[in-house]
Amino acid sequence: MIKRPIIIDTDPGIDDAVALAIALFNETLDVRLITTVNGNVSLDKVTYNMLRLMKFFDKHVPVAKGASTPLIVEPVDASDIHGETGMDGYEFEEPDEGMLLDDHAVIAMYKEIMNSEQKITLVPIGPLTNIALLFRMYPEVKDKIEEIILMGGSTSRGNASVMAEFNIYADPEAAKIVFSSGVPIVMAGLDVGLKALVYPEDSEILKDMNDTGHMIYHLFKKYRGGSFNKGLKMYDSCAVAYLLQPDLFETVDTFVDVELNGELTKGTTVVDLKGYLKKASNVKVCIDVDADRFKQWLMENLKKCK
Ligand code: RIB
Ligand code: CA
Repeated sequence: MIKRPIIIDTDPGIDDAVALAIALFNETLDVRLITTVNGNVSLDKVTYNMLRLMKFFDKHVPVAKGASTPLIVEPVDASDIHGETGMDGYEFEEPDEGMLLDDHAVIAMYKEIMNSEQKITLVPIGPLTNIALLFRMYPEVKDKIEEIILMGGSTSRGNASVMAEFNIYADPEAAKIVFSSGVPIVMAGLDVGLKALVYPEDSEILKDMNDTGHMIYHLFKKYRGGSFNKGLKMYDSCAVAYLLQPDLFETVDTFVDVELNGELTKGTTVVDLKGYLKKASNVKVCIDVDADRFKQWLMENLKKCK
């Protein structure tokens, strides 16, 4: 079987950890590279978290460190959601030195994409700073990218501000560069992320499922993306779920742009569902998810982990 080559750009992040586990242990994916970006917490912290996860999973996928700040705006932080470390709740072993590539994430992505015989799918599950820098520095990579399946945005309200979802809000200028890149994009935003929930009974099953489930259970005890008792939001797993099981989602092809100038609306993904702007579609937007089948998919895929 030919595995699908992907690069994941991430800011772990407790929900990132779940998405990364599923991707790294899935037999149909060839995770070529993982890049880190300032987002939930600082670049140093998310990179340390990524290396700790890689050691925990006993996987050997190259990791490259990326952008430490957004392109223009001041960094924001989601430590209120993920804890001060960005991945509170579980005591990981220290990562092995030398697991980190010397190349910057953008250089590492450029080399991997240009040297790959197959087109590569990008799976950004954090702010889009690295992807925007890649497109600005090396536009020639665009022809060698299959598609971008990203977690971010919303057709309606936000979770970082009234109207903006965190990954877009954290670097709106980067998001605008990516959404206007011309590369095929699938947007798995809050319309599905807010419905992709794990409940206490699921967490109890995870606790005894395997080492990964046990670790995730303890992260969930600290995760504030929703509530342990009423449902925890698996935002980033929605991007991996679309990659592996797109029929879980209802989608529309439409035009999406990013608001940069609104005092109250900067970082909004403006999703033109009714065609007012009369612009060609540039994004496949996930507007709904079968929540029960999603959760079943998530639990089945976590069973494949160590
Ligand atoms: O809005 C949810 C997104 O913000 C997820 O990627 C989560 O990890 C945080 O980065
Ligand atoms: Ca994330």
